[in-house]
Amino acid sequence: VLSGSDKTNVKGVFAKIGGQVEEYGAEALERMFATYPPTKTYFPHFDVSPGSAQVKAHGKKVAAALVEAANHIDDIATALSKLSDLHAQKLRVDPVNFKLLGQCFLVVVAIHNPSVLTPEVHASLDKFLCAVGSVLTAKYR
Ligand code: HEM
Repeated sequence: VLSGSDKTNVKGVFAKIGGQVEEYGAEALERMFATYPPTKTYFPHFDVSPGSAQVKAHGKKVAAALVEAANHIDDIATALSKLSDLHAQKLRVDPVNFKLLGQCFLVVVAIHNPSVLTPEVHASLDKFLCAVGSVLTAKYR
């Protein structure tokens, strides 16, 4: 459960990274594909090479969903409800992969903003990304 200070920390991170979040989304995907190659199997219809236009476009969408979740941090389940249906019912992405993408996003934030990611903020962002992953895998049956 995200505490009050977790929520403040997460909102602070997104305020700080601002418009760069779209690039971070794409970079996180690139890292996920490079570091955990089996994740590429969910994107057989994509050019998953670094810098690909499809990865950039998809990174934007992922980033927008994270921003949406941060903006509705008290009710992420409602904010990402449609996305949750999509991942659970249509895409059927194995839940372990959400941790991998979350970790990659965290690393990207850390690289670009070393001073922002104090241990406390790191912990809050990790909790938030886990919460997003839980929502996106909540409807698996
Ligand atoms: C599609 C967000 C995790 C695989 C999408 C879309 C968004 C999104 C916004 C586009 C939905 C649309 O077009 O309506 C997220 C977020 C994640 C996450 C916020 C976790 C932080 C993952 C993971 C995988 C994955 C871990 C697999 C390793 C896919 C695939 C699509 C998709 C295959 C469809 C791509 C396409 O054909 O355009 N996701 N996703 N997602 N996601 Fe995720």
